[in-house]
Amino acid sequence: MQLRVALIGFGVVGQSVCEVLMSKSESLSNTNDFSCLVVGVSDLRWGTVFNNDGLDLGQLLTEARDTGKFCKNLTDWDSHTLIRRCDADAVVELSYTDLETGEPAISHCRTAIETGKSVITSNKGPPALAHRELSELARHKGVQFLFEACVLSGTPVFNLAHSCLTGNTITEIRGILNGTTNFMLDEMESGANYDVALAKAQELGYAEARPDADVEGYDALAKVVILANTLMGGDIEPSQVPCRGITEIDQNAVAEAKREGRRYKLIGAIQRDGDGLSARVCPEKLHLNDPLSSVSGVNNALTLKTDLLGEITMIGPGAGPTATGYAVVGDLMRILTVH
Ligand SMILES: NC(=O)c1ccc[n+]([C@@H]2O[C@H](COP(=O)([O-])OP(=O)(O)OC[C@H]3O[C@@H](n4cnc5c(N)ncnc54)[C@H](OP(=O)(O)O)[C@@H]3O)[C@@H](O)[C@H]2O)c1
Repeated sequence: MQLRVALIGFGVVGQSVCEVLMSKSESLSNTNDFSCLVVGVSDLRWGTVFNNDGLDLGQLLTEARDTGKFCKNLTDWDSHTLIRRCDADAVVELSYTDLETGEPAISHCRTAIETGKSVITSNKGPPALAHRELSELARHKGVQFLFEACVLSGTPVFNLAHSCLTGNTITEIRGILNGTTNFMLDEMESGANYDVALAKAQELGYAEARPDADVEGYDALAKVVILANTLMGGDIEPSQVPCRGITEIDQNAVAEAKREGRRYKLIGAIQRDGDGLSARVCPEKLHLNDPLSSVSGVNNALTLKTDLLGEITMIGPGAGPTATGYAVVGDLMRILTVH
């Protein structure tokens, strides 16, 4: 079956989605009967292109990389006009999100769903700040709102929970949800001080020049809210979750934990608390027999406690173009398989 798709945002993730679609097109067609026709792309930097018969993904990648702008099939539509006017089954929203307002990603998702299109996003804003609104609107319109890439990137969390764990009740979630801070804590355990660990994370491209979202715990906080509201039936907002990052942790604290046979990790956690949920983000000194204590570098991990299976821990890359591109392609296939 073929899915007609429009992409909003053609940066690192948007380009990687196209690369995964191109490199896997034959096997996806043969083994999953899946093919994807990209009819439109809109990006602030490269412009907007539309062709109802499908765009040439290889050509778009070449144009973006070699000339810095799209050249063929150009229109003067903005992203919302493309979403409204293209005849697509799904909109893939990979632009940008402000973690306080969720924009422009939330508005892109809303326009897509309102016009009867499923939407997939890699942006945390829509599921963290508008999950209830967007998922109810999607249900009302008979389309899907999917966001596998937002937590643990391509390592399947939501698709696993919604397919393989059906029938289980998830009673607790604990995870390492931010790779940058996990890398920094590892560096501190190897003897680097906080500033050196941060500088190395920035040099390697793991941390932004302004690292607040990582080191203050805001990135992990958004993921905790998404997990609470989608896998544990919550309706919580970021402002309701106590959040401490790793700025208070120094080399000495990490060394002392090591002497105690423990290891600092920045943990995001959600537990059932009566009829509600309690959630937090904070550094914790883990015993070395805790599976999360052995997660190293920029990897992420999640332990789900379930009523029927006990604890399940998954470890995998929490970012990266190919892993994130794969997460989006997985969601595209889900649109065709889940009704
Ligand atoms: N990279 C990863 O490994 C990864 C993993 C998981 C999730 N994510 C999330 O996915 C999102 C995209 O990531 P990325 O790495 O692809 O970012 P990126 O390289 O900056 O690409 C985003 C693209 O979207 C464009 N854009 C911004 N606002 C737009 C709008 N209103 N309409 C159309 N295009 C717009 C940007 O143009 P300008 O540059 O001109 O603004 C840019 O070209 C981010 O929110 C990121 O947090 C990324």
